[in-house]
Amino acid sequence: MKVVFFSPHFPLEMPRFVRGLAEVGVQVHGLGDVPLESIPAETRQYLSGYLQIPSLHAGDATVLDALPQLRRLQPDQIECLWEPCVVVAAQLREALGLPGQGVQDAIAFRDKPIMKQRVAAAGLRVPHNARVHTANEAREAAEIIGFPLVLKPIAGAGSADTYRVDDAKELEATLQKLGHLPEASIEEYIDGQEFTYDTVSVDGQPLFDSIAWYRPRPLEARSNEWVSPAQIVLRDPHQPALEDAVAFGRSVLKAMGMGTGFTHMEWFRKPNGELVFGEIAARPPGARLVDQMNYANDFDVYREWARVACWRTFEAPIHRRYHVAAIFKRAQGQGRIREIHGMDQARRALGEWLVADELLPIGTPRRDWKQTLLSDGCLIVRHPDLRTCEAMMDLLVQDVHLIAG
Ligand SMILES: Nc1ncnc2c1ncn2[C@@H]1O[C@H](COP(=O)(O)OP(=O)(O)O)[C@@H](O)[C@H]1O
Ligand SMILES: [Mg+2]
Repeated sequence: MKVVFFSPHFPLEMPRFVRGLAEVGVQVHGLGDVPLESIPAETRQYLSGYLQIPSLHAGDATVLDALPQLRRLQPDQIECLWEPCVVVAAQLREALGLPGQGVQDAIAFRDKPIMKQRVAAAGLRVPHNARVHTANEAREAAEIIGFPLVLKPIAGAGSADTYRVDDAKELEATLQKLGHLPEASIEEYIDGQEFTYDTVSVDGQPLFDSIAWYRPRPLEARSNEWVSPAQIVLRDPHQPALEDAVAFGRSVLKAMGMGTGFTHMEWFRKPNGELVFGEIAARPPGARLVDQMNYANDFDVYREWARVACWRTFEAPIHRRYHVAAIFKRAQGQGRIREIHGMDQARRALGEWLVADELLPIGTPRRDWKQTLLSDGCLIVRHPDLRTCEAMMDLLVQDVHLIAG
């Protein structure tokens, strides 16, 4: 079996999915916009072929120019796990008559108002929302939806250009900031806690599923630099307190017409217990969530995704042993990381439960906290007991400090 895989080198997780594909016995042909030589040898060893195109960003037409070469290659499947390219990957599939997600479904998983229509049509609760193109349309929609509300891009990522708006004055200020967007989604603000529902599915049926709890909610983490964003993959989503959420997530997959592959959904639990849909993507989550699933289950979900995508089976035992918290630290100050406080004590206190210890080393330039979900490094802890896992997370949030300058 020949699989064309988009962007085998970037982002971070893609090389691991490439490895997974090779390990389940298929030929992987990379499609990327960098020279093959610049892809690390560790990933290159898994590629049976590679097609370099001028750009993956320059618009769909540039990618579609690769069609003649792809026709000659005669792949059995095209896989794309990178959000900006999922629609053009579906266009290639349709042009080549290949199975997998088609263009209309890819757009529905990408375009927030369209996805909400599909989910709402199945009788599931979504935030009241409207697609707006002008400031006047936004003002009119705000009248109907009411404050507080959220203004965000139609097909964003990482909470970029996303704002909570509390009143008419803030609306005007926010519209100024979003002037560069041709259209936006305006939504009822949903209060409460925010979670994910992530699956590896065959024909919309999860063979593996996982729920993560954002601490705090991504928009708060993105709006306040002092926050250490964190999330806990819960040991087992199949427990009474989450039964309604699993059922809700599965209904969303059905409503969306999900086929085979990874999904990443976000949802809210309101203070009154009500569940509300957030968004869904037909790809794995970023920000180390896939690694957290692996730490929770002591398996390799990169490889199992590949097995599902190519052979429609998930073979690794699902142990559900640990709650797993990932904490992303942001340095105080600008420039290079100069000091790290509290980490030695934390290592001693956490011992074997600290499974990833990946802060940027002293001397490294700080990352732009608005541009990366990884901030200035990541710490991951796991424990079979949720309260203990939360306490370990709190320790890393409160007692570890990076100083730049
Ligand atoms: N309707 C809403 N009510 C409350 N918070 C929201 C709403 N829409 C988005 N948010 C907040 O903004 C974040 C980013 O929005 P989201 O739709 O997930 O876009 P992205 O594709 O950037 O992840 C969410 O994780 C959530 O914290
Ligand atoms: Mg999101």
